[in-house]
Amino acid sequence: MAKLAVLGHGVVGSGTVELFLKNREQINRKNGIDLELGYVLDIRDFPDLPYSDKFTKDINDILNDDEVTVVAEVMGGVNPAYDFVLSCLNKGKSVCTSNKELVAKKGAELLKAAKEHNCNFMFEASTGGAIPIIRPIHRCLAGNDITACAGILNGTTNFILTKMITEKMSFEDALAMAQELGYAERNPEADVEGHDACRKICILSSLIYGKHVYPDTVHCEGITKLTLEDVAYAKSWGGAVKLIGSVKRTEDGKILPMVAPRFVCGGCQLSNIDDVFNGIMVWGDGFDEVMFYGRGAGKLPTASAVVGDIIDCAKHSKTILSQMWEDSTDTDFIADYKDDSVSVYIRVQDSDKAQIEALFGECEYISREGQPENELAFITPVMAEKTVDEKLSALSGNVLGRIRLFEG
Ligand code: HSE
Repeated sequence: MAKLAVLGHGVVGSGTVELFLKNREQINRKNGIDLELGYVLDIRDFPDLPYSDKFTKDINDILNDDEVTVVAEVMGGVNPAYDFVLSCLNKGKSVCTSNKELVAKKGAELLKAAKEHNCNFMFEASTGGAIPIIRPIHRCLAGNDITACAGILNGTTNFILTKMITEKMSFEDALAMAQELGYAERNPEADVEGHDACRKICILSSLIYGKHVYPDTVHCEGITKLTLEDVAYAKSWGGAVKLIGSVKRTEDGKILPMVAPRFVCGGCQLSNIDDVFNGIMVWGDGFDEVMFYGRGAGKLPTASAVVGDIIDCAKHSKTILSQMWEDSTDTDFIADYKDDSVSVYIRVQDSDKAQIEALFGECEYISREGQPENELAFITPVMAEKTVDEKLSALSGNVLGRIRLFEG
């Protein structure tokens, strides 16, 4: 009999215990393992739960129990999660986590510690909620040269955008609802400012390209500057605005990770992914294109991915080396997004078509219901992002909206 310890009994932690205990018998039988719940670490008391006797407030109870072979870290945040996880790995206990901030900031170091102590550090739940994406990338698609990956990586913002578009709900009300449903981060600024999606694209980029991509090297924009007017123009253009995390290899051999709202055309599968769902597309030389879809946040969807990792940790006593990347000390391999070629939606007040075309060339104009007479919205031809900036600074009038198109 081996023991599982769960660090944290919040939304994901309680879901992890619930799913594990509910399915424990079949999990053990089907996987040929014998795992029981040993400990739940939390500073709070939960006296009324059927497993209240498993609670501890002291990480040393877990560290000093040799029967604990698998630890699920579902506390969130870097501290004290980082110290706890590192201590567990240093004791040879495999750790799985849903904590994207921890993986994005400390992944290389924790993977190295796991390797040194012949155990595993797994993080399927850190990206895409219930969607299997980490394993497919380092296992199923491992034979390919992956050229790009992009998707909707944050359930909260996709939920908010969907509610704003389909129900005309205010940003604040939609965010409050996402918090109630357990989708949002403790500090929802991480969701709406794009930091959560940024951490996830860092994890995917690191895994795909084999070198740690740190969040502070990635250009990141959230959804707080989006207006209902921009959303209406996207709809009349035949698409939708989505917060997209993306990474691609550039012509000079660097990589370009980025998070920003994008106009996604109606023909692209990502435009139809609504509510809390996430969708992730991957492109590579052998398989061309694959897409992953599912619930990107929430108690049991996230727990589903954590429990999958718990089982894998219990089954694989040695380090899974494909789930690995090296640390990076430079940023030379990250391309400047200003050099990227983009087509951009622009909404401008008090300008005119003659000036727009003189600067940008032939553009596609879009209209919307209730469009004021002094407002124009257009899509530029493809050009370097820094060229768009130069032309915009020469344009008379006020620029009210500026959203890149998704090129996938
Ligand atoms: N706040 C995150 C989201 C939770 O909304 O996607 C899942 O990582």
